[in-house]
Amino acid sequence: MKSLVILISGRGSNMEALFAAVGRGELPVRVAAVISNRPDAKGLETAAAQGVPTAVVDHKAHAGREDFDAALAECIDGYAPDLVVLAGFMRILTEGFVRRYEGRLLNIHPSLLPAFPGLHTHRRALEEGVRIHGCTVHFVTPALDHGPVVVQAAVPVLDGDDEAALAARVLAQEHVVYPLAVRWFAEGRLSLVDGRVRVAAERPQPAPLISP
Ligand code: GRF
Repeated sequence: MKSLVILISGRGSNMEALFAAVGRGELPVRVAAVISNRPDAKGLETAAAQGVPTAVVDHKAHAGREDFDAALAECIDGYAPDLVVLAGFMRILTEGFVRRYEGRLLNIHPSLLPAFPGLHTHRRALEEGVRIHGCTVHFVTPALDHGPVVVQAAVPVLDGDDEAALAARVLAQEHVVYPLAVRWFAEGRLSLVDGRVRVAAERPQPAPLISP
């Protein structure tokens, strides 16, 4: 069975969605550890309550990105995971770190990339007036919030949406697609070959989303 390390910075609801999928028998992985860069991340308590080992590599205790990433990599490698899953991990990673985990480092981003990389994606989607928004699971490459797309889920932007309403609609889909992508990886159906994503799995039949 493949093993994961999950990196978080806060609430950890995507991490919880992964635990839940494991608990339902839908995700054949062993979560080796949850690591946070913030000692006060709420998700650490959730992970500990699940009996999953937790660790903190505090970015504030390191002089710069290189030092922090070296300490983080050392911590991760102590668990020898097959896959590293970024789940609301709010640090920009150095190129060296990203290359070290090439093809086994996934991220989830709350927009339909390449639209809205970076922060405040829901606010910016509302400001731009887009009618379809969503989330993306992608392999991580050195460019922030870029990298080969594994799976995306789209949601409509509805009249009267505020940032919170739109964020909640997207988050519900994040909790669907992240366990799916991790399952594909765990089953050996998802890989990165010459920089391109290969998925050998049954996909949900997409219905066209027309909005409004
Ligand atoms: C999610 O919206 C994720 O896409 C983004 O940060 C948020 C983290 O939420 N990268 P959570 O910590 O998983 O609840």
